[in-house]
Amino acid sequence: MAVTSSEFWDRVAAGYSKRPIADTESYARKLAATQALMHPNMQVLEFGCGTGSTALEHAPHVSQIVATDLSATMIAIGREKAARAGVGNVNFRQSGVEAFEAPDGRFDMVLALNLLHLLPDRAAALSKIHRLLKPGGVFISSTVCLADRMWFLRPIVPIMQWFGKAPYVSFLRVDTVLQEVVTAGFEVQEHWTHSRANCLFLVSKKVGIG
Ligand SMILES: C[S@@+](CC[C@H](N)C(=O)[O-])C[C@H]1O[C@@H](n2cnc3c(N)ncnc32)[C@H](O)[C@@H]1O
Repeated sequence: MAVTSSEFWDRVAAGYSKRPIADTESYARKLAATQALMHPNMQVLEFGCGTGSTALEHAPHVSQIVATDLSATMIAIGREKAARAGVGNVNFRQSGVEAFEAPDGRFDMVLALNLLHLLPDRAAALSKIHRLLKPGGVFISSTVCLADRMWFLRPIVPIMQWFGKAPYVSFLRVDTVLQEVVTAGFEVQEHWTHSRANCLFLVSKKVGIG
C-alpha cells in the first residue's frame, strides 16, 4: 500500500494547490525577507516548488526562476498558473533534487521551501545546493522541525505512510538543520521559527568556493 514520494505528491497536488496558506503573516514575512535580497538580474533556482505559488510571487523581482519539483502534476498545475497570470520568467521543470543537474555556480539564489524534511539525503541535497550557487549566493529554506514539538507523531507517521497518507518525512530539530547547513558550507544570516509545526525559516550565504 505504501506509495513512492512522486506518487504521493502527484496524488495530493490538486488539493495542495487549492489549500489556503495557513500562516499568512509568516508567509508575508518570508516573501519580504527573500525579496529584500533579490535583484533584477538574479538567476534563481527553486527546489520542491509545488504548484509554483511562491515562484510566481517572486518572479517580478528577478530575471529568471527555474522552478523544479519531483511531482509532474505539481509542475503541470504550476505551468497553468503561470500562463493564467501571464508570468513568462518562471521556467518549470519536473525533477527531484537528486536528479537535477546544472553547471556549478549557475544560480544567485536557491530556495527550498517546506522541503528539506522530506528528503532522505539532506547532506547530498545541501552539498548540491552549495555547488549550484555562485560564491556569496543565497540559500533560503523553510523546514518543518517536528522533533522539537510534535515528537508524538513519530509512531503515527509510519502507519500513515503504509496507507499512502503521508510522504517520507524526517523528524528534525532546529539545531540539527542549522548545524547541517553550516557543515555544508553556508553562513547563517537570519533564522526564526513559526507555527505549531515549528517551521524554521533560514537565510544563509554560500561561503567558500566549493
Ligand atoms: C510541502 S510541499 C511544498 C511546496 C512549496 N515549496 C510550498 O512551500 O508550498 C513539498 C513539495 O516538495 C516536493 N518534493 C518532495 N520530494 C522531493 C524531492 N526529492 N525533490 C524535489 N521535490 C520534492 C513535492 O512534490 C511537493 O511539491
